[in-house]
Amino acid sequence: MKKIYLDNGASTMVDPKVCKVMEPYFEDCYGNASSSHECGVDAHRALLLARESVARSIGAREEGIVFTSGGTESNNMALKGLFWKEVEKGSGRNHIVTTKIEHACIVNTCKWLETQGCKVTYLDVDEEGFVSAEELKSVIRPETFVVSIIHGNNEIGTVQDLDVLGKVCREAGVLFHTDACQSFTKVPINVRRLPVDLMTLNSHKIHGPKGVGALWLRKGVEITPLIHGGGHEMGLRGGTENVAGLVGFAEACKRGRKNKLKGLIRMRNYFIDEVLERVSGSKLNGPRDEDGMKRLCNNINITFPVNGEMLGGYLNADGVCTSKGSACSNNGHSVSPILKAIGRTEEDAANSIRFTISRFTEQKDLDIAIEVVVKSVEKVG
Ligand SMILES: Cc1ncc(COP(=O)(O)O)c(C=O)c1O
Repeated sequence: MKKIYLDNGASTMVDPKVCKVMEPYFEDCYGNASSSHECGVDAHRALLLARESVARSIGAREEGIVFTSGGTESNNMALKGLFWKEVEKGSGRNHIVTTKIEHACIVNTCKWLETQGCKVTYLDVDEEGFVSAEELKSVIRPETFVVSIIHGNNEIGTVQDLDVLGKVCREAGVLFHTDACQSFTKVPINVRRLPVDLMTLNSHKIHGPKGVGALWLRKGVEITPLIHGGGHEMGLRGGTENVAGLVGFAEACKRGRKNKLKGLIRMRNYFIDEVLERVSGSKLNGPRDEDGMKRLCNNINITFPVNGEMLGGYLNADGVCTSKGSACSNNGHSVSPILKAIGRTEEDAANSIRFTISRFTEQKDLDIAIEVVVKSVEKVG
C-alpha cells in the first residue's frame, strides 16, 4: 500500500537535495567548527555560509541568527532569555502577553515562567483564530516586556497580520516575538520590513533535518542565555554546533524559495472544497482564503460528523497519514486548546482532523486521499 503523507505540519520529508549537501559533513568535513586545523576551518566556513543563508531567507543580518536545536528551544530561549534579562536589569518588568492558540512550547514556557514570578495574559482569538489588535493594545501595561504571538497557526493555519500587531507593540514600546515555524517559507517574511524583534524558525517543517532551528534577534535585543558553554553562537547558546544539520537547514531555506505557493493554495482549496461538498455536516476550522495571507497554504483542518478517533484510525489503515490536532501536543490532551479557543465544542474538536500538504504532495495522491476520507467517514458513520 502506498503511503500518502498529509502530515507535513508535524514534520516533512528531508528534500533529497538537502540530504546530499549534508553528506560531506558526516564523511569528510566532520571537524569541530571551533578547531583551528583545516577540518575545523572548513566546518567553520560552512557554519558562516549556513548563517548567511538562513539570515538571507528572512531578510536579516547574519549576526542576528542564533542557531538552536529547533523551534522548542528557540521559543524557550526567547521568553526565558528576555525575562531573565529583565530580572538582571532589575527593571521590574514581568508581564508577557501571548495568546490561547500558541504551540505547547510557548504555553508551557509561559506556565513555567508564571511559577518564577511572571504574569502572563493569554489573549482570546475570534472564531477564525485571529488576534484583535485592539484587544492586544488594551492588555499591554507598563510591566509588559514582550508580546509573543504565533505567526501561522500549527493546527488551524490562521496567519496573523504581523504588521498590524507589531505596530501595536512598537507604539507601546514592547518587544514583539513571533513563532514562525509553520509560516516560514510558506508566507513571505522580511524582518527588514516587519515590526518584529524576535523570530523562531526551525528546519524540519521546511524539508530540512530535525533538531535544528534558529532564533532571530533584532540588533539591540538582549537575552540571557539558556545554555551556558564555550562561547558558541555569540555567547548566547553554548554547545558544539551541529554543522551537518545547519548546512542542511540552510539548504532547506534556499530550496524553500522554490515553494510554489499558488499551486499549494490551489491544492489546499481543492481538498477543502471537495471534502466539504462530499461529506455533509463537515466544517472547516480556521479561515478561508484565496492568497495564502490569512491561512497557511498547506493547512486543512476539518471537523467531521463522525468519531474523529475512529476516522483517523481508518485513514491510517488506508495509508493516509494525518494528525488530530498538533503532533507536538498529543500529550494526553483529548481536546485541542486551539479548537476550543475558536469556539469549537469538545465533541467537534475531538472529531477534527488536520491534513497538511507540501511541495512534494501530488494531485493524484490528494485525489486518492479524498476518496479514502469519504469512504472512511461512511464506514465510521
Ligand atoms: C508552531 C510551532 N512552534 C514550535 C514547534 C516546535 O518545533 P521543534 O519541533 O523544532 O522543537 C512546532 C513543531 O511542531 C510548531 O509547529
